[in-house]
Amino acid sequence: MTSGSDKYFVCGANSVSSVIEELKTTCTLSDSQLLNILSTDKYDQELFSAADEVRRSVYGDRVFIRGLIEITNYCRNDCYYCGIRRSNEQAERYRLSADEIFSCCQEGYALGFRTFVLQGGEDAQCTDEFICGVTARLHDAFPDCAITLSLGERPESSYRAMYSSGARRYLLRHETADFAHYAKLHPSSMSLENRMKCLSALKKIGFQTGDGFMTGAPFQTAHHIVKDIRFMQALSPDMIGIGPFIHHRTTPFAHCPDGTLSLTLRLIAILRLIFPKALIPSTTALATLCPEGRILGLKAGANVVMPNLSPRTVRKKYELYENKAHGGMESAQELDALKKAVKEAGYKIVVDKGDRAGF
Ligand code: 5AD
Repeated sequence: MTSGSDKYFVCGANSVSSVIEELKTTCTLSDSQLLNILSTDKYDQELFSAADEVRRSVYGDRVFIRGLIEITNYCRNDCYYCGIRRSNEQAERYRLSADEIFSCCQEGYALGFRTFVLQGGEDAQCTDEFICGVTARLHDAFPDCAITLSLGERPESSYRAMYSSGARRYLLRHETADFAHYAKLHPSSMSLENRMKCLSALKKIGFQTGDGFMTGAPFQTAHHIVKDIRFMQALSPDMIGIGPFIHHRTTPFAHCPDGTLSLTLRLIAILRLIFPKALIPSTTALATLCPEGRILGLKAGANVVMPNLSPRTVRKKYELYENKAHGGMESAQELDALKKAVKEAGYKIVVDKGDRAGF
């Protein structure tokens, strides 16, 4: 280490390697050490290779795939960053039927998917009865598959019913762990308290629980990100979704700058070091920002990709952000191309449910 980098880490650890070691073993880095790592790209290569080493020690070269089915773009919420927010009158709304969802899964199963992620806005018509009916039918027809739901905030009783019908994983990003920042991203009808309540209910019920946030969200500072990491350390999520904020022309944040590839990759690496066993996707948002993003995400410690398995007719309509990728390697039907790219990067897509290690 040069004396320059020794000086950089002023709090406790005295070299990049020891900071990385501390991230890996004790997670006792101070806030200012985390801030230091977050705020420079100087140590990225070391972070990425340490994260890759950790990921390989837990998951080897295996990359899990999830078939993402976007079941509805109706949403009662009005998040300022999201393209399917209630106020977007230009959005062409759709909702898939139970049969349509089922045929997506049939197609996905044949392609080699063993996890189906049913994601949607908070749609009042997606009742427990509907979701549990679909989940039970999928669970029955594909007993060797995992069903993941990502349908926003719901009462604990609803989550319990979903678990009883066979769903075993749930994705719900906390978005930001800072109350004031949360209020800048969401209308006052939404609260971080409720988000936290939902996440702890999901954990309590026994779901493999997915958390996450956007990098480079409007008004986000490095201090917020440190809070996000602390929040995650308390929650201990099984899955962690990190993707760059990307503006959408119809939202109040239409003119805000997008998040960056470099901060997103750095965070993936940091989170891999802190959570060795987590399932971390290289997200669609990352691939949208930069086509190589998907593979760079894997090289920085991610071990999951989630190609789009929605009917082609609706893919364009689930536009959370501008130009959201849904063709090419983001498409489940182009899995061969993705397999090839992943192989060239030194990893291997597997036909596997892909539970979190040790779950
Ligand atoms: N840019 C990037 N990610 C977004 N999401 C919603 N809107 C955007 C955007 N404009 C993310 C949120 C949400 C997930 C489903 O998609 O973090 O939790």
